[in-house]
Amino acid sequence: MRHPVSLSQNKAQPLPIVVLISGSGSNLQSIIDRIADKTLNAKICAVITNKSDAYGLERAQKAAIPTEVIDHKQYDSRENFDAELTLCIEKYQPKLIVLAGFMRILTDDFVNHFYGKMINIHPSLLPKHRGLHTHQRALEAGDKEHGLSIHYVSAELDGGPIILQQSVPIHENDSKSSLAQRVLEQEHIAYPQVIQWFSQGRLQLINNQVIFNQ
Ligand code: GAR
Repeated sequence: MRHPVSLSQNKAQPLPIVVLISGSGSNLQSIIDRIADKTLNAKICAVITNKSDAYGLERAQKAAIPTEVIDHKQYDSRENFDAELTLCIEKYQPKLIVLAGFMRILTDDFVNHFYGKMINIHPSLLPKHRGLHTHQRALEAGDKEHGLSIHYVSAELDGGPIILQQSVPIHENDSKSSLAQRVLEQEHIAYPQVIQWFSQGRLQLINNQVIFNQ
């Protein structure tokens, strides 16, 4: 038997997420801002970082979001670090784990444990330019366009199923910082949008294929 009233109430519940960062946290800020202006129906249960000096911690604290620091240097292996990170994430029971400039290579066990509910934003048009220094590499390759990809996290580095890509032009006089800035502006629009799709239940991963429900 269907209960339309309670169903719609459930739909209106904010999506509980945790955000993992390692640095400035400008993407985190865009998520905070879209929640504040109510265009994103989510609740950030915690911001978790591996860097105690990440500026994103201040952004979280300003928005009264709980923060956790798990310093990877205190762990003698990736496995032990990822095990602690798993416990920390699960404490908050998120429906979605959002990697926003989280600069750690993750173990297969960790990734497989959260497969289908962990997403990442990467500053390139994947599969081009996996890994680091993407803006510099796009310039050196003579690319005419660059951009961002938002994808499910899989065991293959920057290789999981792609949810959304957004391209930006590369101009002749671009430096890596002007190009990074152009990409980042688009990241700040795209990431909250994708999280909102999760909140609306529009995204599914079936047989490693991203299904988008209109
Ligand atoms: C963003 O450009 C993000 O795409 C990138 O780090 C930056 C974090 O900026 N992520 C990666 O390179 C992951 N491989 P932010 O801390 O200001 O959000």
